[in-house]
Amino acid sequence: MLYFADYEPDAHGVPLPELAVRRADPADLPVCAALMAEREGDDQAAWLDRLQFWSAAGQQLFVAELGGRVIGCARLSWLTPGAEGGRNAPDGWYLNGIVVARGFRRRGLGRALTLARCRWVWEQGGRVYFVVNARNRASIDLHREVGFRELTRDFVVPGVTFTGGEGILFSADASGQGQQVTELRVRAAG
Ligand SMILES: CC(C)(COP(=O)(O)OP(=O)(O)OC[C@H]1O[C@@H](n2cnc3c(N)ncnc32)[C@H](O)[C@@H]1OP(=O)(O)O)[C@@H](O)C(=O)NCCC(=O)NCCS
Repeated sequence: MLYFADYEPDAHGVPLPELAVRRADPADLPVCAALMAEREGDDQAAWLDRLQFWSAAGQQLFVAELGGRVIGCARLSWLTPGAEGGRNAPDGWYLNGIVVARGFRRRGLGRALTLARCRWVWEQGGRVYFVVNARNRASIDLHREVGFRELTRDFVVPGVTFTGGEGILFSADASGQGQQVTELRVRAAG
């Protein structure tokens, strides 16, 4: 099953001005599980179990909400690929699991969730990593805009596979040009 957004580079969205992004609390986990289940086709209870387990293990979960309703979520995980049999992928914070409810795509949620997670890492002085299927062009454009640059396609992160395509490892630090572009956009929108 291919569960990427259709790639529409010419259809620019209008960001939702009243959007809020914050760290999740335990009460958010069921709706995040529903979003993950909608995207990946597994059942919600299984996703809730996974999210609870990952939260307890230190994974960071962020949500985007509109008028108090959670309509997008995204995770951030500390990975140690080398110690687990991986190759060419550094230890560090990796973005993963971003999903925006279908009816709210192209309204700036993905960008806001990605920037919030990056800032969380950058404030600690770190670099952020991100792996993606090379066919997921919507996600790649989004992350490039925030400042991610390709590191390599020759890597292994244990447990991560790329259905029907190769993977790309990206990284971004706080000095990224894309971050400045996004700041300008945010200021212009305000
Ligand atoms: C990828 C995804 C998270 C993007 O979320 P979103 O809220 O729709 O994205 P945004 O509105 O913040 O888009 C920001 C920028 O990303 C790029 N982008 C986002 N969706 C795009 C699409 N479908 N086609 C082309 N570019 C896209 C654009 O540059 C966009 O800016 P613009 O609208 O001004 O042109 C969303 O489509 C999704 O949930 N997809 C399914 C899950 C998935 O693929 N997750 C990523 C796994 S790595």
